[in-house]
Amino acid sequence: MELLDRDGLTEAAFLAAYRPGDYPRPSVTADMAVFREGPSGVELLLIRRGGHPFLGKWALPGGFSEPGETLDETAAQELREETNLSGLPLTPVGFFSQPGRDKRGWTMSEGFAALLPPEEPEAQAGDDARETGWFALDSRWEAGVLTLSFSGPEAFEAKLCREGGYAYSILDTGGLAFDHAHIIARAMERMGLLQPEPADYETLNAQLMSLIEGVPHPLANLSNAAALLWESLGGINWAGFYLLEGDKLVLGPFMGKPACIEIPLTKGVCGAAARTGETQLVPDVHAFPGHIACDSASRSEIVVPLRREGGVFGVLDIDSPLLRRFTEADRAGLEAFARILEGAVQ
Ligand code: SME
Repeated sequence: MELLDRDGLTEAAFLAAYRPGDYPRPSVTADMAVFREGPSGVELLLIRRGGHPFLGKWALPGGFSEPGETLDETAAQELREETNLSGLPLTPVGFFSQPGRDKRGWTMSEGFAALLPPEEPEAQAGDDARETGWFALDSRWEAGVLTLSFSGPEAFEAKLCREGGYAYSILDTGGLAFDHAHIIARAMERMGLLQPEPADYETLNAQLMSLIEGVPHPLANLSNAAALLWESLGGINWAGFYLLEGDKLVLGPFMGKPACIEIPLTKGVCGAAARTGETQLVPDVHAFPGHIACDSASRSEIVVPLRREGGVFGVLDIDSPLLRRFTEADRAGLEAFARILEGAVQ
């Protein structure tokens, strides 16, 4: 028997009486953040808007969804119309629904992102876009504020702060249209292109101390130290140890992809750290002579020597897929981390 609702209606009767207009409806759009690997870092494709609102401002390509199409179809179609790029692997990065985000009225947008290899065909402006431009894009955190620096046909900076979970508040649009600074930050985060917030080394190093306290097993301590770094640091793809055996470094406990097993002291960033006894902070591994690429995704690296009486006995090595991932604050924090660990692996 057909079920009746609390008003005594069948589903067919309910639908016949249903008036969609009783519920206010937003417009829905798609906005696309297309990134590519540039010679000195990541680049983002923007369009200069050819119509109101935000006429003449830089924006993400995007547009309104039409009846009968999916948002993925909207994204692909708008990108083709405005930039002439097609067939890109677009990944959804979130739904943007902040009231007031669009001056025209209630408009929600799904953000999409794609990361292209270098030397993709040039984009060409079309439809609502007056001009397209690739912008070198850098991110940095300072006192809880995320700055996105754009440098291309024009240079400008947008500023945001995190607002719980994945959301950001825009402090300064930098002149970008709508809430596109927010969509860009989320797209960078989703694609692994955003610099992480600075680590809290005070807490991290206190955690290390309590993990190793009273544990007489060097291998266990190194393993837990690698796991702690892996869990605590953002924007890394490898964290672990190489230990000195004779005139070479041999792979120790680590987190990340399988890595090179032996490193001669004369080679690589690890070799340089062990040989000199000095931390090696490498902003761009491609510019480091003799860098050993265990994972081609790695773009920056920090290696801290581990010392005991009589000299270096190993290194702590951390890799990142982000250029310029490691800062002087990381150097200080990780050197303190190494000093704590040294006593626990004798
Ligand atoms: N890149 C290192 C080799 C070790 S892997 O990064 C895990 C180097 O150049 O020494």
